[in-house]
Amino acid sequence: MRLHRIAIAISVICAALAIAIVIGWYRVVYLPGDTAGRPSVGGPFTLVDGDGRTVTDQTYRGKWLVVYFGFTFCPDACPTALNTIAGALDALGPEAARIQPLFITIDPDRDTPPVMKQYVAAFDDRIVGLTGTPQQIAAVAKAYRVYYQKVGDGANYTMDHSTALYVVGPDGRFNSLLAHDLSADEMAKRLKDLL
Ligand code: NI
Repeated sequence: MRLHRIAIAISVICAALAIAIVIGWYRVVYLPGDTAGRPSVGGPFTLVDGDGRTVTDQTYRGKWLVVYFGFTFCPDACPTALNTIAGALDALGPEAARIQPLFITIDPDRDTPPVMKQYVAAFDDRIVGLTGTPQQIAAVAKAYRVYYQKVGDGANYTMDHSTALYVVGPDGRFNSLLAHDLSADEMAKRLKDLL
């Protein structure tokens, strides 16, 4: 019967489409090494460290990077994440020498190099705080697909920002995301599995 055949044809087309969608999704989400479907996260950047020196992504080649974006006035997410990173470094012991945590501000107006240097040192002096011009910050945030938005006016403005941590391999390529609410031990374990 004709209707029956049409129904079968539609089912087959739907199934093929569903399979194509699942394969496409799988390539994008689960195969970061596959250049065809690889999401582009991270990449080159030029920023300024706590001593006012210009640094780039090349500066940290050979180390595993844990990159977090935030700002020093942040009341909760940023201090928590930096404490977790510091705890994970401690838990990793000597292996922590292979990791370079970077805290990149999304509030360059307030977070000057000296402010960043003093702030990260309060958590762990192995964490490097980076700032830059508003243009440099916008560029690195865009490369890492970081959302940030100024909220409010005057001296007490705050910033909304996304809170994922990015792991970048020694070759400079994005490796994976870490949730900002992991415990220090969980983060240490995730990192140890990568080293
Ligand atoms: Ni924050």
